[in-house]
Amino acid sequence: MSGCPFFERKHQLFTSKPSKAEEEDESQKGINKATKGGIIYGEYLQLDKVLDAQVLQSELKGNKIHDEHLFIITHQAYELWFKQILWELDSVRDLFIKNHVRDERNMLKVVSRIHRVTMIFKLLVEQFAVLETMTALDFFDFREYLSPASGFQSLQFRLLEGKIGVADHLRVPYNRRHYRDNFHEHESETLLSSEQEPSLLQLVEQWLERTPGLESDGFNFWGKLQASIEEGLKMEKQKLEKLEDSEVKQELLEDRSKQTEVFTALFDPKRHEHLLSKGERRLSYKALQGALMINFYREEPRFQVPFQLLTALMEIDTLMTKWRYNHVCMVHRMIGSKAGTGGSSGYHYLRSTVSDRYKVFVDLFNLASFLVPRAWVPKLNPNIHTFPYMAEYYDSSYNSCSELSPTQFTSF
Ligand code: HEM
Repeated sequence: MSGCPFFERKHQLFTSKPSKAEEEDESQKGINKATKGGIIYGEYLQLDKVLDAQVLQSELKGNKIHDEHLFIITHQAYELWFKQILWELDSVRDLFIKNHVRDERNMLKVVSRIHRVTMIFKLLVEQFAVLETMTALDFFDFREYLSPASGFQSLQFRLLEGKIGVADHLRVPYNRRHYRDNFHEHESETLLSSEQEPSLLQLVEQWLERTPGLESDGFNFWGKLQASIEEGLKMEKQKLEKLEDSEVKQELLEDRSKQTEVFTALFDPKRHEHLLSKGERRLSYKALQGALMINFYREEPRFQVPFQLLTALMEIDTLMTKWRYNHVCMVHRMIGSKAGTGGSSGYHYLRSTVSDRYKVFVDLFNLASFLVPRAWVPKLNPNIHTFPYMAEYYDSSYNSCSELSPTQFTSF
Protein backbone atom coordinates (compact mmCIF):
# COMPACT_ATOMS: atom_id res chain seq x y z
CA MET A 1 0.00 0.00 0.00
CA SER A 2 1.48 3.39 -0.83
CA GLY A 3 0.56 6.99 -0.10
CA CYS A 4 -1.88 8.38 2.35
CA PRO A 5 -5.47 7.80 1.22
CA PHE A 6 -6.80 10.52 3.51
CA PHE A 7 -4.75 13.04 1.64
CA GLU A 8 -5.84 11.67 -1.69
CA ARG A 9 -9.50 11.78 -0.71
CA LYS A 10 -9.17 15.35 0.50
CA HIS A 11 -7.55 16.31 -2.76
CA GLN A 12 -10.68 15.26 -4.65
CA LEU A 13 -12.54 18.19 -3.05
CA PHE A 14 -10.63 20.72 -5.17
CA THR A 15 -12.56 20.39 -8.39
CA SER A 16 -12.22 23.96 -9.79
CA LYS A 17 -9.45 24.69 -12.32
CA PRO A 18 -6.11 25.15 -10.48
CA SER A 19 -4.41 28.57 -10.63
CA LYS A 20 -0.89 28.93 -12.07
CA ALA A 21 0.60 29.12 -8.60
CA GLU A 22 -1.22 25.92 -7.67
CA GLU A 23 0.02 24.21 -10.82
CA GLU A 24 3.61 25.02 -9.86
CA ASP A 25 3.12 23.83 -6.29
CA GLU A 26 5.38 20.74 -5.98
CA SER A 27 3.45 19.48 -2.96
CA GLN A 28 0.29 19.16 -5.09
CA LYS A 29 1.85 17.15 -7.92
CA GLY A 30 0.69 13.57 -8.39
CA ILE A 31 -2.19 11.56 -9.75
CA ASN A 32 -5.12 10.37 -7.70
CA LYS A 33 -4.85 6.66 -8.43
CA ALA A 34 -7.83 5.80 -6.20
CA THR A 35 -10.23 7.12 -8.84
CA LYS A 36 -8.89 4.56 -11.34
CA GLY A 37 -10.25 1.52 -9.56
CA GLY A 38 -8.51 -1.13 -7.45
CA ILE A 39 -8.63 -1.65 -3.72
CA ILE A 40 -8.74 1.39 -1.45
CA TYR A 41 -7.56 1.89 2.14
CA GLY A 42 -10.77 1.04 4.00
CA GLU A 43 -11.47 -2.03 1.88
CA TYR A 44 -7.93 -3.33 2.13
CA LEU A 45 -8.00 -3.12 5.93
CA GLN A 46 -11.63 -4.20 6.20
CA LEU A 47 -12.24 -1.23 8.42
CA ASP A 48 -15.98 -1.66 8.19
CA LYS A 49 -15.56 -4.81 10.33
CA VAL A 50 -12.84 -3.53 12.64
CA LEU A 51 -14.38 -0.13 13.37
CA ASP A 52 -17.84 -1.56 13.77
CA ALA A 53 -16.77 -3.95 16.50
CA GLN A 54 -17.02 -1.65 19.53
CA VAL A 55 -20.34 -2.44 21.14
CA LEU A 56 -20.71 -0.83 24.54
CA GLN A 57 -22.63 -3.13 26.88
CA SER A 58 -23.49 -0.10 29.01
CA GLU A 59 -25.16 1.55 26.01
CA LEU A 60 -27.12 -1.61 25.20
CA LYS A 61 -28.34 -1.61 28.79
CA GLY A 62 -29.46 2.01 28.42
CA ASN A 63 -26.72 3.54 30.58
CA LYS A 64 -23.91 4.57 28.19
CA ILE A 65 -20.62 4.96 30.05
CA HIS A 66 -17.97 6.96 28.20
CA ASP A 67 -14.89 4.97 29.35
CA GLU A 68 -16.20 1.60 28.20
CA HIS A 69 -15.15 2.59 24.68
CA LEU A 70 -11.50 2.91 25.80
CA PHE A 71 -11.77 -0.41 27.66
CA ILE A 72 -12.93 -2.22 24.52
CA ILE A 73 -10.45 -0.54 22.16
CA THR A 74 -7.55 -1.37 24.52
CA HIS A 75 -8.47 -5.05 24.71
CA GLN A 76 -8.95 -5.24 20.96
CA ALA A 77 -5.56 -3.59 20.35
CA TYR A 78 -3.97 -6.19 22.67
CA GLU A 79 -5.68 -9.04 20.85
CA LEU A 80 -4.51 -7.74 17.46
CA TRP A 81 -0.93 -7.60 18.70
CA PHE A 82 -1.29 -11.09 20.24
CA LYS A 83 -2.33 -12.23 16.77
CA GLN A 84 0.82 -10.71 15.24
CA ILE A 85 3.00 -12.34 17.92
CA LEU A 86 1.39 -15.72 17.16
CA TRP A 87 2.02 -15.12 13.46
CA GLU A 88 5.73 -14.50 14.08
CA LEU A 89 6.06 -17.36 16.56
CA ASP A 90 4.43 -19.82 14.17
CA SER A 91 6.74 -18.78 11.37
CA VAL A 92 9.82 -19.19 13.58
CA ARG A 93 8.64 -22.56 14.88
CA ASP A 94 8.07 -23.60 11.30
CA LEU A 95 11.66 -22.70 10.37
CA PHE A 96 12.86 -25.00 13.15
CA ILE A 97 10.32 -27.79 12.50
CA LYS A 98 11.10 -27.92 8.79
CA ASN A 99 14.83 -27.90 9.59
CA HIS A 100 15.46 -24.70 7.64
CA VAL A 101 17.71 -23.57 10.48
CA ARG A 102 20.22 -26.27 9.51
CA ASP A 103 21.10 -23.79 6.82
CA GLU A 104 22.47 -21.17 9.16
CA ARG A 105 21.70 -18.28 6.82
CA ASN A 106 18.10 -18.65 7.97
CA MET A 107 19.06 -17.87 11.56
CA LEU A 108 19.02 -14.18 10.73
CA LYS A 109 15.33 -14.54 9.83
CA VAL A 110 14.68 -16.34 13.13
CA VAL A 111 16.47 -13.65 15.15
CA SER A 112 14.75 -10.79 13.29
CA ARG A 113 11.29 -12.23 13.92
CA ILE A 114 11.96 -12.99 17.56
CA HIS A 115 13.33 -9.47 17.92
CA ARG A 116 10.07 -8.19 16.37
CA VAL A 117 8.14 -10.14 19.01
CA THR A 118 10.15 -8.41 21.75
CA MET A 119 9.38 -5.00 20.21
CA ILE A 120 5.65 -5.78 20.24
CA PHE A 121 5.86 -6.94 23.84
CA LYS A 122 7.57 -3.67 24.78
CA LEU A 123 4.59 -1.85 23.34
CA LEU A 124 2.14 -4.11 25.18
CA VAL A 125 3.89 -3.57 28.50
CA GLU A 126 3.57 0.21 28.06
CA GLN A 127 0.03 0.17 26.67
CA PHE A 128 -1.59 -0.34 30.09
CA ALA A 129 -0.76 3.29 30.85
CA VAL A 130 -3.48 4.43 28.43
CA LEU A 131 -6.12 2.31 30.17
CA GLU A 132 -4.91 3.60 33.52
CA THR A 133 -6.20 7.06 32.59
CA MET A 134 -9.57 5.52 33.54
CA THR A 135 -10.24 5.76 37.29
CA ALA A 136 -11.44 2.87 39.45
CA LEU A 137 -14.79 4.65 39.84
CA ASP A 138 -15.16 5.10 36.06
CA PHE A 139 -14.53 1.36 35.70
CA PHE A 140 -16.96 0.55 38.48
CA ASP A 141 -19.67 2.37 36.47
CA PHE A 142 -19.71 -0.31 33.78
CA ARG A 143 -17.94 -3.32 35.32
CA GLU A 144 -21.18 -5.10 36.22
CA TYR A 145 -22.12 -5.19 32.52
CA LEU A 146 -19.03 -7.26 31.61
CA SER A 147 -19.45 -10.20 33.90
CA PRO A 148 -18.55 -13.06 33.41
CA ALA A 149 -16.25 -11.93 30.55
CA SER A 150 -12.57 -11.86 31.58
CA GLY A 151 -9.11 -11.70 30.04
CA PHE A 152 -8.70 -15.16 31.52
CA GLN A 153 -10.78 -16.38 28.58
CA SER A 154 -8.34 -14.91 26.02
CA LEU A 155 -7.61 -17.85 23.73
CA GLN A 156 -4.76 -16.06 21.99
CA PHE A 157 -3.00 -15.31 25.28
CA ARG A 158 -3.08 -18.98 26.26
CA LEU A 159 -1.91 -20.05 22.79
CA LEU A 160 0.92 -17.58 23.02
CA GLU A 161 2.05 -18.83 26.43
CA GLY A 162 1.90 -22.45 25.25
CA LYS A 163 3.70 -21.86 21.97
CA ILE A 164 6.57 -20.11 23.75
CA GLY A 165 6.75 -22.99 26.22
CA VAL A 166 5.06 -22.11 29.54
CA ALA A 167 4.94 -25.48 31.31
CA ASP A 168 1.47 -26.80 31.96
CA HIS A 169 2.39 -28.40 35.29
CA LEU A 170 3.98 -25.17 36.56
CA ARG A 171 0.93 -22.97 35.98
CA VAL A 172 -0.92 -21.57 38.97
CA PRO A 173 -4.32 -23.35 39.09
CA TYR A 174 -7.38 -21.16 38.67
CA ASN A 175 -9.91 -21.88 41.41
CA ARG A 176 -8.13 -25.25 41.71
CA ARG A 177 -8.95 -26.04 38.11
CA HIS A 178 -6.96 -26.42 34.91
CA TYR A 179 -6.98 -23.24 32.80
CA ARG A 180 -8.34 -25.17 29.80
CA ASP A 181 -11.58 -25.92 31.70
CA ASN A 182 -12.57 -22.31 31.06
CA PHE A 183 -12.65 -22.86 27.32
CA HIS A 184 -15.38 -24.65 25.47
CA GLU A 185 -15.69 -26.82 22.38
CA HIS A 186 -13.56 -25.61 19.47
CA GLU A 187 -11.46 -23.23 21.62
CA SER A 188 -10.60 -26.06 23.95
CA GLU A 189 -9.74 -28.28 20.97
CA THR A 190 -7.55 -25.52 19.47
CA LEU A 191 -5.66 -25.28 22.77
CA LEU A 192 -5.29 -29.03 23.03
CA SER A 193 -3.96 -29.42 19.51
CA SER A 194 -1.58 -26.48 20.00
CA GLU A 195 -0.23 -28.17 23.14
CA GLN A 196 0.66 -31.23 21.03
CA GLU A 197 2.91 -29.12 18.76
CA PRO A 198 6.53 -28.50 19.74
CA SER A 199 6.95 -25.25 21.63
CA LEU A 200 9.65 -22.70 20.85
CA LEU A 201 11.48 -23.91 23.96
CA GLN A 202 11.57 -27.52 22.72
CA LEU A 203 12.72 -26.48 19.26
CA VAL A 204 15.45 -24.22 20.60
CA GLU A 205 16.50 -27.07 22.90
CA GLN A 206 16.96 -29.47 19.95
CA TRP A 207 18.89 -26.80 18.08
CA LEU A 208 21.17 -26.11 21.07
CA GLU A 209 21.90 -29.82 21.41
CA ARG A 210 23.51 -29.65 17.96
CA THR A 211 25.88 -26.80 18.91
CA PRO A 212 29.11 -27.47 17.01
CA GLY A 213 31.98 -28.07 19.42
CA LEU A 214 30.03 -30.24 21.87
CA GLU A 215 31.11 -33.51 20.19
CA SER A 216 33.12 -35.52 22.74
CA ASP A 217 35.29 -36.86 19.91
CA GLY A 218 35.76 -33.32 18.54
CA PHE A 219 36.41 -30.09 20.42
CA ASN A 220 34.72 -31.67 23.47
CA PHE A 221 33.75 -28.35 25.05
CA TRP A 222 32.13 -29.86 28.15
CA GLY A 223 35.03 -32.17 29.01
CA LYS A 224 37.57 -29.39 28.44
CA LEU A 225 35.55 -26.87 30.45
CA GLN A 226 35.22 -29.23 33.40
CA ALA A 227 38.96 -29.95 33.44
CA SER A 228 39.79 -26.27 33.12
CA ILE A 229 37.43 -25.17 35.92
CA GLU A 230 38.68 -27.91 38.28
CA GLU A 231 42.25 -26.82 37.62
CA GLY A 232 41.35 -23.13 38.10
CA LEU A 233 39.57 -23.78 41.41
CA LYS A 234 42.50 -25.93 42.65
CA MET A 235 45.01 -23.19 41.84
CA GLU A 236 42.82 -20.59 43.56
CA LYS A 237 42.59 -22.74 46.68
CA GLN A 238 46.35 -23.19 46.79
CA LYS A 239 46.83 -19.43 46.48
CA LEU A 240 44.33 -18.72 49.25
CA GLU A 241 45.88 -21.28 51.59
CA LYS A 242 49.19 -19.45 51.38
CA LEU A 243 47.60 -16.28 52.80
CA GLU A 244 48.09 -15.41 56.45
CA ASP A 245 45.28 -16.66 58.69
CA SER A 246 42.61 -13.98 58.98
CA GLU A 247 38.87 -13.43 58.80
CA VAL A 248 39.24 -12.33 55.17
CA LYS A 249 41.10 -15.54 54.29
CA GLN A 250 38.30 -17.56 55.89
CA GLU A 251 35.65 -15.69 53.92
CA LEU A 252 37.56 -16.17 50.66
CA LEU A 253 37.92 -19.89 51.32
CA GLU A 254 34.19 -20.17 52.07
CA ASP A 255 33.37 -18.31 48.84
CA ARG A 256 35.62 -20.65 46.92
CA SER A 257 34.02 -23.70 48.46
CA LYS A 258 30.54 -22.38 47.47
CA GLN A 259 31.87 -21.89 43.95
CA THR A 260 33.12 -25.48 43.94
CA GLU A 261 29.67 -26.70 44.96
CA VAL A 262 28.06 -24.73 42.10
CA PHE A 263 30.40 -26.28 39.55
CA THR A 264 30.26 -29.79 41.01
CA ALA A 265 26.48 -29.60 40.59
CA LEU A 266 26.83 -28.21 37.07
CA PHE A 267 28.93 -31.15 35.92
CA ASP A 268 26.60 -33.70 37.55
CA PRO A 269 23.99 -34.97 35.05
CA LYS A 270 21.92 -36.53 37.88
CA ARG A 271 21.65 -33.18 39.60
CA HIS A 272 20.47 -31.72 36.31
CA GLU A 273 17.74 -34.36 36.02
CA HIS A 274 16.63 -33.59 39.58
CA LEU A 275 16.35 -29.84 38.83
CA LEU A 276 14.48 -30.64 35.61
CA SER A 277 11.92 -32.70 37.54
CA LYS A 278 11.38 -29.77 39.92
CA GLY A 279 10.91 -27.35 37.00
CA GLU A 280 13.97 -25.35 38.07
CA ARG A 281 15.67 -26.22 34.79
CA ARG A 282 13.81 -26.51 31.50
CA LEU A 283 16.55 -27.38 28.97
CA SER A 284 18.12 -30.79 28.47
CA TYR A 285 21.66 -31.26 29.81
CA LYS A 286 23.15 -31.20 26.31
CA ALA A 287 21.21 -28.07 25.36
CA LEU A 288 22.42 -26.32 28.51
CA GLN A 289 25.99 -27.13 27.46
CA GLY A 290 25.31 -25.66 24.01
CA ALA A 291 23.89 -22.48 25.52
CA LEU A 292 26.91 -22.06 27.78
CA MET A 293 29.25 -22.67 24.87
CA ILE A 294 27.50 -19.98 22.79
CA ASN A 295 27.85 -17.60 25.72
CA PHE A 296 31.56 -18.21 26.10
CA TYR A 297 32.39 -18.05 22.41
CA ARG A 298 29.84 -15.41 21.39
CA GLU A 299 32.53 -13.36 19.65
CA GLU A 300 33.27 -16.20 17.20
CA PRO A 301 31.56 -15.24 13.93
CA ARG A 302 29.55 -18.44 13.92
CA PHE A 303 28.17 -17.91 17.40
CA GLN A 304 27.23 -14.26 17.05
CA VAL A 305 23.74 -14.76 15.64
CA PRO A 306 22.97 -17.69 18.01
CA PHE A 307 24.03 -15.46 20.89
CA GLN A 308 21.64 -12.76 19.70
CA LEU A 309 18.85 -15.34 19.61
CA LEU A 310 19.50 -16.43 23.20
CA THR A 311 19.51 -12.79 24.30
CA ALA A 312 16.20 -12.11 22.53
CA LEU A 313 14.60 -15.21 24.11
CA MET A 314 15.50 -13.95 27.57
CA GLU A 315 14.03 -10.60 26.59
CA ILE A 316 10.71 -12.30 25.79
CA ASP A 317 10.62 -13.84 29.26
CA THR A 318 11.52 -10.55 30.90
CA LEU A 319 8.86 -8.65 28.96
CA MET A 320 6.17 -11.23 29.70
CA THR A 321 6.97 -10.92 33.39
CA LYS A 322 6.73 -7.14 33.06
CA TRP A 323 3.40 -7.55 31.24
CA ARG A 324 2.06 -9.67 34.12
CA TYR A 325 3.39 -7.20 36.65
CA ASN A 326 1.92 -4.09 34.97
CA HIS A 327 -1.39 -5.90 34.48
CA VAL A 328 -1.63 -6.93 38.12
CA CYS A 329 -0.72 -3.42 39.32
CA MET A 330 -3.48 -1.99 37.15
CA VAL A 331 -5.95 -4.62 38.37
CA HIS A 332 -5.11 -3.78 42.00
CA ARG A 333 -5.73 -0.12 41.33
CA MET A 334 -9.02 -0.79 39.51
CA ILE A 335 -10.66 -3.45 41.69
CA GLY A 336 -8.56 -3.60 44.88
CA SER A 337 -8.92 -7.08 46.33
CA LYS A 338 -12.35 -7.84 44.85
CA ALA A 339 -12.85 -11.09 42.90
CA GLY A 340 -12.34 -10.98 39.11
CA THR A 341 -15.25 -10.94 36.66
CA GLY A 342 -13.96 -14.34 35.48
CA GLY A 343 -14.35 -15.68 39.03
CA SER A 344 -10.76 -15.83 40.31
CA SER A 345 -9.58 -14.20 43.52
CA GLY A 346 -8.46 -11.35 41.23
CA TYR A 347 -5.37 -9.50 42.44
CA HIS A 348 -4.15 -12.40 44.61
CA TYR A 349 -4.43 -14.93 41.79
CA LEU A 350 -2.69 -12.63 39.31
CA ARG A 351 0.08 -11.76 41.78
CA SER A 352 0.96 -15.46 42.07
CA THR A 353 1.51 -15.61 38.29
CA VAL A 354 4.31 -13.01 38.44
CA SER A 355 6.78 -15.75 39.19
CA ASP A 356 9.65 -17.78 37.77
CA ARG A 357 7.20 -20.65 37.27
CA TYR A 358 6.09 -18.82 34.14
CA LYS A 359 9.63 -18.19 32.90
CA VAL A 360 10.38 -20.37 29.91
CA PHE A 361 14.05 -19.69 29.21
CA VAL A 362 15.03 -19.73 32.88
CA ASP A 363 18.22 -21.70 32.10
CA LEU A 364 19.51 -18.88 29.93
CA PHE A 365 19.22 -16.47 32.85
CA ASN A 366 20.99 -18.93 35.15
CA LEU A 367 23.96 -19.22 32.80
CA ALA A 368 25.41 -16.15 34.47
CA SER A 369 25.99 -18.28 37.61
CA PHE A 370 28.42 -20.44 35.64
CA LEU A 371 30.59 -17.76 34.13
CA VAL A 372 34.29 -18.09 34.87
CA PRO A 373 37.34 -15.89 34.25
CA ARG A 374 38.12 -15.71 30.54
CA ALA A 375 41.46 -17.43 31.18
CA TRP A 376 39.60 -20.58 32.29
CA VAL A 377 37.58 -20.85 29.07
CA PRO A 378 39.12 -23.61 26.90
CA LYS A 379 41.10 -22.04 24.08
CA LEU A 380 40.04 -22.60 20.51
CA ASN A 381 42.92 -23.45 18.22
CA PRO A 382 42.26 -21.03 15.34
CA ASN A 383 43.72 -23.51 12.84
CA ILE A 384 41.51 -26.40 13.90
CA HIS A 385 38.46 -24.96 15.61
CA THR A 386 37.45 -22.22 13.26
CA PHE A 387 33.74 -23.07 13.33
CA PRO A 388 33.27 -21.49 9.94
CA TYR A 389 29.89 -20.64 8.52
CA MET A 390 28.15 -23.84 7.42
CA ALA A 391 24.98 -24.96 5.69
CA GLU A 392 24.12 -28.62 6.02
CA TYR A 393 22.04 -28.70 2.93
CA TYR A 394 21.06 -26.22 0.37
CA ASP A 395 17.47 -25.18 0.06
CA SER A 396 17.34 -22.62 -2.71
CA SER A 397 13.55 -22.61 -2.70
CA TYR A 398 13.62 -21.11 0.74
CA ASN A 399 16.52 -18.68 0.49
CA SER A 400 16.46 -15.36 -1.22
CA CYS A 401 20.17 -15.71 -2.00
CA SER A 402 21.15 -18.52 -4.37
CA GLU A 403 24.85 -17.73 -4.67
CA LEU A 404 26.14 -19.93 -1.86
CA SER A 405 26.67 -23.62 -2.24
CA PRO A 406 26.27 -26.38 0.35
CA THR A 407 29.17 -27.74 2.37
CA GLN A 408 29.66 -31.07 4.06
CA PHE A 409 30.31 -29.68 7.58
CA THR A 410 28.00 -30.42 10.44
CA SER A 411 25.83 -27.55 11.53
CA PHE A 412 23.49 -26.43 14.31
C1 HEM B 1 -9.49 -2.46 34.01
C2 HEM B 1 -8.69 -3.29 33.41
C3 HEM B 1 -8.56 -4.73 33.77
C4 HEM B 1 -8.96 -5.40 34.88
C5 HEM B 1 -9.65 -4.85 36.13
C6 HEM B 1 -8.57 -6.79 34.70
C7 HEM B 1 -8.80 -7.76 35.63
C8 HEM B 1 -8.40 -9.08 35.51
C9 HEM B 1 -8.62 -10.10 36.49
C10 HEM B 1 -9.27 -9.90 37.86
C11 HEM B 1 -8.11 -11.26 36.01
C12 HEM B 1 -8.11 -12.64 36.69
C13 HEM B 1 -9.17 -13.51 36.09
C14 HEM B 1 -10.57 -13.15 36.56
O1 HEM B 1 -10.96 -13.59 37.63
O2 HEM B 1 -11.26 -12.42 35.84
C15 HEM B 1 -7.56 -10.96 34.71
C16 HEM B 1 -6.91 -11.87 33.90
C17 HEM B 1 -6.41 -11.57 32.66
N1 HEM B 1 -6.50 -10.36 32.01
FE1 HEM B 1 -7.18 -8.63 32.76
N2 HEM B 1 -7.93 -6.92 33.51
C18 HEM B 1 -7.91 -5.70 32.89
C19 HEM B 1 -7.36 -5.39 31.67
C20 HEM B 1 -6.80 -6.31 30.81
C21 HEM B 1 -6.29 -6.02 29.51
C22 HEM B 1 -6.22 -4.64 28.84
C23 HEM B 1 -5.86 -7.18 28.99
C24 HEM B 1 -5.26 -7.32 27.63
C25 HEM B 1 -5.50 -8.32 26.85
C26 HEM B 1 -6.08 -8.23 29.97
C27 HEM B 1 -5.77 -9.55 29.81
C28 HEM B 1 -5.89 -10.51 30.79
C29 HEM B 1 -5.39 -11.86 30.66
C30 HEM B 1 -4.65 -12.44 29.48
C31 HEM B 1 -5.69 -12.51 31.84
C32 HEM B 1 -5.30 -13.94 32.24
C33 HEM B 1 -3.98 -13.86 33.02
C34 HEM B 1 -3.52 -15.17 33.64
O3 HEM B 1 -4.36 -16.02 33.97
O4 HEM B 1 -2.30 -15.34 33.81
N3 HEM B 1 -6.65 -7.65 31.06
N4 HEM B 1 -7.76 -9.63 34.42
